[in-house]
Parts: sequence; structure tokens; C-alpha cells
Amino acid sequence: MTSLSLNKQSILSRNSPIGVFDSGVGGISVLKHIHALLPHENLLYVADSKYAPYGGRTPAEITARCCEIADFLIAKNAKALVVACNTATAAAIDAMRAKYDLPSFNIPIIGMEPAVKPAAAATKNGIIGVLATVGTLKSAQFAALLETYGRNVEVVTQACVGLVECIERGELTHENTLKLIQQYCKPLLNEGADTIVLGCTHYPFVRPLIEQAVGKEVALIDTGAAVAKYLQKRLQELGLLSESQKAANLVFYTNSNAENAKQVISQLWGQSAEVKRL
Ligand code: DGL
Repeated sequence: MTSLSLNKQSILSRNSPIGVFDSGVGGISVLKHIHALLPHENLLYVADSKYAPYGGRTPAEITARCCEIADFLIAKNAKALVVACNTATAAAIDAMRAKYDLPSFNIPIIGMEPAVKPAAAATKNGIIGVLATVGTLKSAQFAALLETYGRNVEVVTQACVGLVECIERGELTHENTLKLIQQYCKPLLNEGADTIVLGCTHYPFVRPLIEQAVGKEVALIDTGAAVAKYLQKRLQELGLLSESQKAANLVFYTNSNAENAKQVISQLWGQSAEVKRL
């Protein structure tokens, strides 16, 4: 580990890519914010779609997947890792930091958590809803988040089983996807939530359907932009922000078995994407 660490430090440079990953294609919603804020940064994205969803997996399984992907991205010379997945962050970020975020390794590992703090600040009636995976809602990290930021508001949570799979299939506007969303938003609306947290990085891709289900009066909050800003700050602190003026190089990796994986990734990215097998 020590010699690998020293090697890594010596070859990491401002032009090294940023590695971003998720259980599947959902983290592309975060990648878009990163690319918009840091358009000259080379980006590698891993969609672990063969193992999606992470939501029903144990923390040990998720941690093993995250470390395998991190090893892959570090071998590709990633200068930072973004865990673009709330479920993976809750399950694995501590283990990942213990393994990779050592002073000698010096690779910042950025995670994400449901936006309870901004939602608690934004709500007018004191009732917020959180849509997330079973894994996120059951995690100790989420309990701690509620303890810290949810004390003065009522928090209604809803696990959205099956929704990640719809998005993995690229079914962003399908009738069945809308039905599922309506079913999951109903309890939050019944409790009077005026602010809803999109606590899974897949959900921004069905934001129009969620808006349709909850109406314009309810505010929706997600964390992609905040994660991109935090990443920028960390890279700046480490002197690792790209100074290139060239167009960024973007490569997507997937282990999806779906024939239409490239099509779904390109659909979510918004243009034809370079997609490689993991
Ligand atoms: N995008 C992941 C998240 O933010 C989805 C989790 C899953 O695969 O269940 O939680």
C-alpha cells in the first residue's frame, strides 16, 4: 500500500481525471453538475448497473462493490472520487476513507447525503418529505442527519422500491413510472410536506414526473449542485483543479447486461456518450 500510495501521489496531476460512480446511471445527474461547473475536467464515470439497485443490499456488499470500483478508478489515475450515490455513501464512505483517503494517498473522496439540512431551512410549514432508497433510510448516517438537522421539523420518509429500476431502463416518462411516483409521493402529500428531498441520485431524472405528482407548490431539493461545488473547493485546496482550456474527455464505463446501455447513458447524459465495458 505504501509504495502504491507514493507512486499515486507522484503521478497525480491537475490533468488527471475525476472518478465518479453510482450503483447505476443515477449518478449521471451529479456528473452533469460537475461538468457544468468544471467543464475542462476529464471525467470517468462508472455505472455499476449489474449490481443495481444498491438500495436492498447489505452495507458489506455495497462496501465491497465501492472498493472494487475505487480500485478501478484509482488505477486509471483518478485524482478524486465522487460517490454519486446516497445509498453507497451511507454504507461505505467511512470504509472507503479509511482505505484511500490517507495523507500519503491524498485522494479526496466526496460523498453525498439527502438534503435534509437545506430542506429544513426552506420549509415554510415545518414538514419535509424525503424520497430515498431503503438502504439510505435505514442507515445510521441518515439517523444522525435527522438528529442534527431534522429536530425542529417534521420529517416524513418514503422508500421508493422499484423506481431506480425504471430509471435504469430509461423509462423516464412511462405511465408505470408515473404511477409508482404518485404512489410514493401520496403519503408525503397526505402529511402536508411542502418541501421534498430527492434523496437518491436517480430521482432528478424523473423530476418532471415528481413535479406532476406533487404539484408546483411543493419545492423539490437535490444535492447535485452542492456536491459539484464541494468537489471544486477540495480540488482547489489540493492544487488539483485543471488549468486546461481543452474540451474535457468523458468516458462512461458500465457492466450493465442491457443491450441498450449506451442508449440509456446517452439519453441521460443528453448526447451521444463514449461507453466502455467495465
Ligand atoms: N443512486 C443511488 C442513490 O443515490 C441509487 C441507489 C440504488 O441503487 O438503490 O441512492
